[in-house]
Amino acid sequence: MKNFKIHPAEITPTADVAGACSPEWETKTAIAAILEISLKDISIQRQLKEILDILVSISWLKAVRKGAVFVTNEHDELVLVVHHNLHPTLQEKCARVPFGRCLCGRAAQDGEILFKSCVDEEHDIRFDGMMPHGHYNVPLLDNQGSVIGVLVLYLEHGHRQHPEESDFMKMLGNTISNIIVNKSLKLRAEISAIRLQKAQMEMLQKLMAASEFRDNETGEHIKRMSQYAVVIAKAIGVPEAERKLLELAAPMHDIGKVGIPDAILLKQGPLTAEEFAIMKSHTSIGAQILSGDHPLIRASRDIALSHHEKWDGSGYPAGLAGEDIPLFGRICALADVFDALTSARPYKEAWPLEKALDFIKENAGSQFDPNLVEAFLDNLPEILSIKSIYSGEGEGTAYGADLLEKPVSQPIASWRPDLSVNVAFIDKQHQFLINLINRVHDAIENADAAEIVEALLDMQQYTRVHFAEEEELMRKYDYPGLQNHIDLHRAFVEKTEQFLDELERNPLAVTTELSSYLMNWLMTHIQTVDADYGRYIAGLDRTKAGAVAGR
Ligand code: C2E
Ligand code: SIN
Ligand code: SIN
Ligand code: FE
Ligand code: FE
Repeated sequence: MKNFKIHPAEITPTADVAGACSPEWETKTAIAAILEISLKDISIQRQLKEILDILVSISWLKAVRKGAVFVTNEHDELVLVVHHNLHPTLQEKCARVPFGRCLCGRAAQDGEILFKSCVDEEHDIRFDGMMPHGHYNVPLLDNQGSVIGVLVLYLEHGHRQHPEESDFMKMLGNTISNIIVNKSLKLRAEISAIRLQKAQMEMLQKLMAASEFRDNETGEHIKRMSQYAVVIAKAIGVPEAERKLLELAAPMHDIGKVGIPDAILLKQGPLTAEEFAIMKSHTSIGAQILSGDHPLIRASRDIALSHHEKWDGSGYPAGLAGEDIPLFGRICALADVFDALTSARPYKEAWPLEKALDFIKENAGSQFDPNLVEAFLDNLPEILSIKSIYSGEGEGTAYGADLLEKPVSQPIASWRPDLSVNVAFIDKQHQFLINLINRVHDAIENADAAEIVEALLDMQQYTRVHFAEEEELMRKYDYPGLQNHIDLHRAFVEKTEQFLDELERNPLAVTTELSSYLMNWLMTHIQTVDADYGRYIAGLDRTKAGAVAGR
């Protein structure tokens, strides 16, 4: 590596970096530290911050100690990712800078290092109280030479450029570009793999729902059945991560029924031996549909194949017995039959609960794993509460049962009583949305690509439900601001869709803007327009109450 001689006149001896008197030594130390940071397994935002903190302490930059890193988004703008010591006004003004604007925007447009020893007419962004200063604006280029960002380092006003400084800046630019490119490629690969998996799962779920509606009165059989399975699994000590897998895989147990003709599946009476032989093939058809290596697909395949095996070996398709039957298959067999018995089917009425329980007790040890039957009966109250929650007449917030806030390590937003819109179920949903924002933020901080996608998709799905319920409420009360509110909701949905779409191509810019966008939007929305309809509804209720009281 070339030795860079830094402008000797600019060097002042430093007390805080031991032995940093020689500029070559200082430069080498800085480069070594940057390389070390580049290997750390932390978010790219944090990496860039640590690198910037080192750069601004290089002695000839030290008098100013200000700097920033921008990345480009897909709209020819620079997005401020990290900064060191920037004035708050400047942070705001520079949050997003279009190509061509100000010095950083010009460096991005031209792809050339831009050095300025003072604030001149090209410095478009100004504010009251701005101090005189100089700049290096170093474009960050990817392997194809496209600008992916800009490094900005502030200099003292009147800084004299040393001939080798510019080479040093070029090298810094290359190093930082490499870090960004590598990290982005890694994130992009992870994100696209996850999205592919998600798309596969979504397709399977649609297929499953389609098959489910053919022979069930509602789609709720699979919800009940998978929740029963989770209760049984918990009772026998299956760890949480496995239970989650079971919960997601169990709904696909009967996916193979798509391959069974209506004439058999929907037959109103008992099946002939031939018809039942065809019916039995839904297990192996399911296993064929569920081919793939993802743990969830593998668990689903096991269940589809083994949920009609019986403990005594008299089941199908393989005639497995006892613990040769996969545990998930045994659990699902019990959960499935209990629900099939207590539900109506084209070929049978729903059995009364007592009769179904007797059947299960009688067949413990023959059809069913006896330990599982015991666990099932020990937890009957929970089973019955699931049965009543998903009983087909689900109204209002059926999502109540699905609401499970995930813990986060560094929340950026939290619920406060003054966020209340005085409608209890809406407040609850808003709290859940705040948790989702915290999840998105946490995932970005931890550079956890899977969780970023997961949390963002959950956010999309959940806001759809929440917005619909809010709009329904406003409609019910003839709220005059309804249309405006619908428009705001729609704009948010479109924006999150755009983020999700862009995330796969440009994860760095998106993850930089995402959590603050979500937080600002939601907090402002709750405190302004949601508070408005809250007051409106509260006012109506008071009038009504007053009218009643006055009568
Ligand atoms: P399914 O309706 O989801 O039922 C799943 C399992 O619940 C059945 O598996 C069986 O173990 C249990 N089950 C359901 N109803 C009864 C019942 O009235 N008595 C008893 N003892 N057990 C019951 P199985 O028998 O292997 O059936 C698999 C699938 O085949 C059923 O799924 C259903 O789609 C179809 N099927 C079974 N029997 C008939 C029938 O008589 N007519 C028609 N149309 N389809 C049937
Ligand atoms: C800042 O203070 O954030 C920037 C330096 C300046 O323009 O004065
Ligand atoms: C197991 O056997 O794998 C767990 C316990 C049970 O199936 O009852
Ligand atoms: Fe089945
Ligand atoms: Fe709203």
